[in-house]
Parts: sequence; C-alpha cells; structure tokens
Amino acid sequence: MEHFTIVSNNLILRDLTYLRDKHTPQRDFRHALDRIAYSICISLSSNIIMKDVEVETPLEVTSGKKIASEIVLVPILRAGLSMGNAFLQLLPQAKMGHIGLKRNEETLEPIEYYYKTPQDLETAQVIILDPMLATGGSVSAAVTFLKRGGAKNIIIASIISAPEGVSRVLNDHPDVYIYTAAHDRGLNEKGYIVPGLGDAGDRVFGTL
Ligand code: PRP
Ligand code: URA
Repeated sequence: MEHFTIVSNNLILRDLTYLRDKHTPQRDFRHALDRIAYSICISLSSNIIMKDVEVETPLEVTSGKKIASEIVLVPILRAGLSMGNAFLQLLPQAKMGHIGLKRNEETLEPIEYYYKTPQDLETAQVIILDPMLATGGSVSAAVTFLKRGGAKNIIIASIISAPEGVSRVLNDHPDVYIYTAAHDRGLNEKGYIVPGLGDAGDRVFGTL
C-alpha cells in the first residue's frame, strides 16, 4: 500500500474547481467539499482492515465482510469538521475525537487549544480529517498527540495538499497513510497552498 495517494475522478475534478473558485458561495463550497470527502472516504476504505463474517440471507448463509477494528475519526478544528458529515455517513459506527489546532500566522507552527479522543486508540483505525495539508505542521502535531495516546494505525484524509506538507508528515511519521484529492504546486510566503482555495475554515464557516 502506497503511503501517499491522490484520489481522483471527474466529480472530484469538477468539485475542486468549485472549491478553488473565489466566487463560489459558502453553501456550494460546503457541498462540494462534502462530496469530495465522500470520494476520499470510499477510496481510503481499501486501507481499512476487514474480517470475514457469515450472513444469513432469506435463502441461505453466505460470506460477507465487516470492518475489523473500531474507527476513530479525528477532525482537526475547525476546518476538519467540514469532512465529518461524509465520513460519519459512510462509517456510522465511528467514534470521534477532536483536536483543536490554530496556526500561528507568523511562525506557521500549530498551537493546541483542545484535545479529546476516545480512550481505546491502540487497536483503532484512526482517521484524521483536515482539508488543507500546507506546511504539514498541524497534521504532524496531531499524529504525534494521537501516537502519545496509543494510536498505531493512522490515515490522514485531506482535500488539497502541498508537497512541503506531505514530505514533512511522511518524514516525521513514515508509518501513516495520506489521501488527498489534489497535490498543488507549493506554498506562498504566508504558508497558503497555491493555487489552493484560500482559507478553508473561513470559507466553510463564513468568517472571511
Ligand atoms: C488550517 C487548516 C489546517 C492548517 C494547515 O487551519 O485547516 O488545519 O491550517 O496548515 P499547516 O499544514 O501549515 O499546519 P487554521 O490554523 O487556519 O485553523 P482553522 O481551521 O480554525 O481555520
Ligand atoms: N490553511 C488553509 O486554510 N489554507 C491554506 O492554504 C493553508 C492553510
């Protein structure tokens, strides 16, 4: 299994165009992000360990599949919340943790302001949700916190990533798996992904 996967299909490409467009209204932005999150969740599900089960149809017993471990979704506040709906729809049994991180706009380093996760992370499949993987500081810090809490199997779901961020996260944590819908050119002098979509949290929550 590759540690870095770009998920793509024609609907993702259409929806990325809505996200990038600065004229897209907040409601359409949220819907496009939600639809991409569904595609990413479906794609990364091939990384989730399954087990065989028996299922009784009205006619006979046959074989089926079940997710083998507990799923813990961890959106990074705020913008990560925008991916929560799609992931919870597709993984309704999931527990949810939350990590609050805010980038210091000068140093670009993340500041932690909230941390609460379920207890049993050791055996869980943890999935971090954050639409923007820019310098990678936020995701890398989140992985460190979750590993301290015992997490061993961690997947990162992002919408747009920068090469700098992907390299940093895989350098700091070579064992994690990153899924993204777009791998953009790089970062500007303010640490924004270019061409990117601007500030994801502000566009999702209308705080521009
Ligand atoms: C954004 C984004 C990521 C982070 C990415 O959050 O949602 O969490 O920046 O940047 P990095 O890869 O350089 O760490 P931000 O700090 O703006 O907070 P917000 O979600 O509350 O808007
Ligand atoms: N956070 C965002 O919301 N957008 C970026 O481009 C970088 C960090």
